[in-house]
Amino acid sequence: MKDNKKSVLIAPSLMAANMLSLKDEVKAVEIAGADWLHLDIMDGHFVPNLTFGPDIIKQLRAVSSLPFDVHLMVEPVELCIDLYQKAGADHITIHAEATSDLKKNLENIRNLGCKAGVSLKPETPVDRIIETLNIIDLVLVMSVNPGFYGQAFIPSTLEKISQLKKLREEKKLDFLIVVDGGINVQNSSAIIKAGADVMVAGNSVFKQQNYQQAIYDLRN
Ligand code: DX5
Ligand code: ZN
Repeated sequence: MKDNKKSVLIAPSLMAANMLSLKDEVKAVEIAGADWLHLDIMDGHFVPNLTFGPDIIKQLRAVSSLPFDVHLMVEPVELCIDLYQKAGADHITIHAEATSDLKKNLENIRNLGCKAGVSLKPETPVDRIIETLNIIDLVLVMSVNPGFYGQAFIPSTLEKISQLKKLREEKKLDFLIVVDGGINVQNSSAIIKAGADVMVAGNSVFKQQNYQQAIYDLRN
């Protein structure tokens, strides 16, 4: 999956967009140079918040050619994976904490033709996903507690990013390291230096005046 890499990729998180103008918001970040569109699915159970579901993704799929990076914060997750594949997800990421059979669900995602991702809450150690690193396309390192955009980056996450980068080298694997939560122009260089291949950004893109400038500033 690393072949698509130019420099660091930027994935604006739609959760922070203007919900009354979703179609225009997606088109605007696409024109502004976004690499992926990050779609946070929350169930009011695994996390306290609620966002949107497969019908909205399906409608957005028809107006955008960006890779759709779906982050499922849903428990149990097994019941809904195929709904998101059918809606048009390119990548489906599930939480290690949200299923009793992580491997089986990740294999299912790949069998459905999507890229498979595994995510870790800030307090969950990398050890928890070691067994899955050879069957996934990306690891989504949560750098805030999942549930809301606009939170502060948790600095201890940097070590987890470096740890994953080291493991990837040692084991000769090729998953992407995606970092999600609290990323801004002040901390993005440190996150890239630690080993991020992709940075998710809600507040730092959708709450800025100029999306193109915001994406450029994060990347550089
Ligand atoms: C949080 C979500 C994030 C969030 C990122 O649970 O997974 O994707 O929208 O937003 P910022 O960049 O504002 O932290
Ligand atoms: Zn997310």
